[in-house]
Order: sequence, then C-alpha cells, then structure tokens
Amino acid sequence: MNYTIKSFEEYQQVYQESVQNPEAFWANIAEQFVWKKKWDKVLDWNFEEPNVKWFVNGKLNITENCLDRHLQSRGNKLALIWEPNDPKERFIRYTYRELHEKVCQMANVLKNNGIKKGDRVCIYLPMIPELMISVLACARIGAIHSVIFAGFSANAIADRVQDAQASVIITSDGLNRGTKQIPVKRVIDEALEGNTSVQRVIVAERLGWAVNMEDGRDVWLHEELKKVDKDCPAEEMDAEDMLFVLYTSGSTGKPKGVVHTCGGYMVWSDYTFRNVFQYQESDIYWCTADVGWITGHSYLVYGPLLSGATTVMFEGIPTYPDAGRFWQIVDKFGVNIFYTAPTAIRSLMAAGLDHVLSYSLDSLKVLGSVGEPINEEAWHWYNIHVGKERCPVVDTWWQTETGGIMLSALAGISPLKPSHAGHPLPGVQPILIDQNGQEIKENEVEGYLCMKFPWPGIIRTTYGDHERCHQSYFANYPGLYFTGDGAKRDKNGMYRIIGRVDDVINVSGHRFGTAEIENAINQHKKVVESAVVGFPHDIKGQGIYAYVICDELPQNPDHMRAEIIESIVEHIGKIAKPDKIQFVSGLPKTRSGKIMRRILRKVAEGETTSLGDTSTLLDPNIVDEIIEGAL
Ligand code: PRX
Repeated sequence: MNYTIKSFEEYQQVYQESVQNPEAFWANIAEQFVWKKKWDKVLDWNFEEPNVKWFVNGKLNITENCLDRHLQSRGNKLALIWEPNDPKERFIRYTYRELHEKVCQMANVLKNNGIKKGDRVCIYLPMIPELMISVLACARIGAIHSVIFAGFSANAIADRVQDAQASVIITSDGLNRGTKQIPVKRVIDEALEGNTSVQRVIVAERLGWAVNMEDGRDVWLHEELKKVDKDCPAEEMDAEDMLFVLYTSGSTGKPKGVVHTCGGYMVWSDYTFRNVFQYQESDIYWCTADVGWITGHSYLVYGPLLSGATTVMFEGIPTYPDAGRFWQIVDKFGVNIFYTAPTAIRSLMAAGLDHVLSYSLDSLKVLGSVGEPINEEAWHWYNIHVGKERCPVVDTWWQTETGGIMLSALAGISPLKPSHAGHPLPGVQPILIDQNGQEIKENEVEGYLCMKFPWPGIIRTTYGDHERCHQSYFANYPGLYFTGDGAKRDKNGMYRIIGRVDDVINVSGHRFGTAEIENAINQHKKVVESAVVGFPHDIKGQGIYAYVICDELPQNPDHMRAEIIESIVEHIGKIAKPDKIQFVSGLPKTRSGKIMRRILRKVAEGETTSLGDTSTLLDPNIVDEIIEGAL
C-alpha cells in the first residue's frame, strides 16, 4: 500500500489534493483493495436528503480484504492476540490463516441457522475472540451486524433488537470482569421476553456455566461448529450495502442505529488506521476499546485487519488484578502502538506511579487517545510516564457517525499540542459555524464543528428512519454535517474539541442522551419529572447529575436514590449510574415550559453566582432552592 504519508509537507500536499479533487484522490486509494467489480462512479452526494454514495456500483466483500488477501504473504503472521481477564489463564493467538478459518466456520454456522444476506444479527458478547469472529462472519455472508456492548441491560438490548428487527443473537453463558462473573445469557433471556423477531440464540461457552437453553431457539456454538466445514465463499456486496448498525445516543430518548456501508467504511478505516498510527508491518497494535463501541469496530477489528496488522484484544479491565495490568500486557506482547481513552489514563494516574514504573514499556512507539477531551494533566502523564517522552501522543477526534478518525495528528509527523486533536485528515473538510449559522473563516476562533464535504466513512442513515438522520445531523445547518461538538481553531489551524453542545453527555467516553437517562428515572412510579446534566468529573470526564421531582419529598432520600439508580440500571445499564441525585420541588423553566439546563449545569458545577438572567423563569425562587440543596 502506498498511501501512508511520510512527512508533514507531504501531509499538506496530500490534504490539498484530497480537497481539490476528492474523487481522484479516493479512487487512487480504493484501487489498492480487492474489488469483485470496480465502481462506476466514485461519489454521488447531497447533504440535503442526505444521500451519500461512495464507489457507486462497486462490488466487494470486506472480509476478503481483511483476511483472504493477506493469506499468501501473511498467512502465518499473527492476526489476533487475545489476553484473558485473568493473567494466569493462557492467552490465545490466531494467525491470519487460522482467523480466516474460524471466520468461515462461524459464517457457516450462521448460514446453517438460517441467516441470509441482509438479515440483522445482534451480538452481545464479552471481549472474547468469538466477538471478533462473529462480526467478521456476519460480514462474510452479508448479514448486518449490530454489536451491543455487554454492559447494557435487558431493556436496552430489547430496544435495540426490536429496532433492528434482528433474527439471531450471538451471546455467551457469562463474562469475566475483574473479580466478577456476570450471567450474560440470563440478561438475553430477559431481553427476549415478548420478542417476536429472534428465531435463534447462539451461545458461546466462556465460563462453562449451565444456563437455560430454550428448546427450538437456543443452540451452543461449540455444538454448531462441529457441523460445519472450513470453506465459506465471501458474499458479493454492493459498496453501499449495509455492513453494520451501531446504536448510539443522541439528544432524544431513543438511541439511534448508525448505519455504515461496506465500501466507504473499508477504505476509511484502513486509511485512517495506517496514517494516524503510522502503522508498520511488524508492529503489534493494541486498542483497549470494547468492540461494543465504534472504536472497537474501526480500530480493533476492521482497520488493523485491513492493514494486515497484529491486533491485541483484552478481555479484562485496567485495574485487575492491579492498576499495572495494561503495562504488564504491553511488556508481555511487546506492544508498539497503544490506543486508549482518557478516562482509563486518569484512573491509572490516580492509582499512583508505582504501577507504571515497574514495567519497561520499551516497545512502545505511538500512543493514542480517543473518546473524550484529554485534559493537559492526563496528556502529560501519558506522554511522560507511559511514552517516556519518546512516543508521539495522538489525540484522535471522531464519532460513531464518522466511522473513523477525522481530526488528529499523524504520529511522529504532525505537530503535537496537548489537548488539541490537531489538523483534519485528508478528505476531511471541517468548518466552524457561529451562533447565526455563518461560517467563521479566520483562525483563533470558536464555533460549532461541522463538515462541508463527505468522506468515505460518513454515516449513511439511521436504521429504519432516514428522516431522523436528516434531523439529527443535516438539518441544523443546511448543506452541512453537524457534529454536535463545539471546537476552537488556533492560529495554525489546529482544532481543540471543547465538548458537546447538545444534550449529550460523555461519561468515561460513553455517550448518553440526557433524555435517555431522564426516561429511565421517570419510570420510577414516585418520580414526577427529572432533568439530567453533565458536570466535570476528575476521572470520568463528565459525571451525571440528576435533579428529580418526586410526588412528595422522599422521607428517606438515600433509599429513594438507590431505587432511582436501580431504575437506570434496569433500563440502560450500570454504565449510566448517576453520580449525584438531588431532590427538588421544581425545575427552572421558562414560561414556555423549557427547562433552563444552563442553570442546572452551573449549579452542578458548583457555580452559584453568575447564573445569568433568571428573571424570565416561571418561578425564579426555585433557583435558590436548588442552590441550597445542591450536593
Ligand atoms: O464529543 C466528542 C467526543 O465523543 C463524541 C463521539 O462519541 P462516540 O460516537 O461514542 O465515539 C467515541 C469514539 C470515537 C464526540 O462527539 N470525542 C471523541 N473523541 C474525542 C472527543 N472529544 C474530544 N477529543 C477527542 N479526541
């Protein structure tokens, strides 16, 4: 592949080419993949509907590009190194040839269980090899995968399975997480109560637990694997056929199914992987994200495999058995490129230096950060104590909807500035918009971050509801893709992400809509109304602060808090537990009934003066009460 940029001058030149002649630029890159039939036209687009098509009428299968095409030159190279939760358990390694075989077998299991091209398969698995294999097996036969993070609750799964109208679920008996073992299959059983679309549940064995197996619906994966052979031809897919649906939170209550398609996503995840991390053939690469999130899709599975890399997958958590676990794994496998989230860095920072100083970390060459703004303190700690000031730290900004990295330094090539994502990748055309919807052209400014031209990995639609895609991303500023983030641009054109400007909060790199959490709180029978805001949190980036009105002020507030948390855990999952719950008798509302979240955010931040003009509120006194009761 000859599209890895080698210097900042080359980046500048390539960037210009990508903007001046995007079609020629991307055609040149796409040509280096395996296509079953070449495209007729590189790009067809408008942001009004929106309608974006890359590599029109091109035919391919992404797994041929991830696996088959490497077999000749990299057949015996390691594709996957899997490290279990418990350091005493043996790790697993698969070469490209072995992974190819596993994927084909799994694809045959899916076929035997009635899955066809276009069917939706939900995958609710812990971070075990079967997760990666299932994702690729779906892609192999043209089924659309929808991975659901294994921390979501039964209700959250039920919503997603229902929306995707999935016919099959792949899950496991249970999962390991630090010292805990969690009965995953039981969660699926609960999620499927009353469901009518799911015909089959395929269960992988991880803990060896006896689980309930519903007759006629549930099958064990190891039994199914005995029935299949190792060959499975790759289904021919149109470049614009759906590859996957991944649910993510927005500013309304219901998560939306972000759709990515085969051709553009393939080109984008590979191109961004190689360039941002400056991947080289012998590198061992480790992304700590769960495959349940987009980072796991693009930079644990697809990007690295498309590039023929060795990718590490870790089942456990950074603090088990102790806070040196990440660094122990880096030394164990000689990891060269390490990609993680600021929240993990901050929690390891808080655990003390001893845990990191006891490892050599000599193999590291490049460090990456993703998912939320990285504060300067964490950036420096990562740079000094992990990278020993010899590894570039790339702060990569992107979203589920962008499919891959949009703003980032190219490791070792672009200038670095702590807390700044940096310059746009080739093909990315960011602009900042002011309060009036006008483009801000100069530098040293701040505005709403939008994109004015499509890149190959852009979201195509929201599953089953195209208008929602239009409304969420393309309606605020007609003709532009709106990211939902605010950003600053410095004098050198480097971007710094400020954070969300919509009702989305980012807790430990996980996205939640405030409305989604409010809906869960409001399910409690004693709750009349609630309002949720984010507030700065030392480890998580943002914490969740909930203001709750009950039918009467709770006599035992701690008890009521526990019940509310229970309701959230039941409707979303433990990951959305609020940090603070304050009972109030009212919320600051305008006369038209709109909640003034700005005031609630300030109080949650501990700011009780300069709350701005509160005279337009329906009941200005409520603000004093809220300040007084603030936690
Ligand atoms: O607010 C931005 C933040 O995460 C949001 C996207 O979340 P999600 O779709 O879950 O994807 C996370 C992984 C790509 C963005 O709108 N975000 C992501 N990366 C960064 C970031 N904020 C600041 N700096 C980043 N590097």
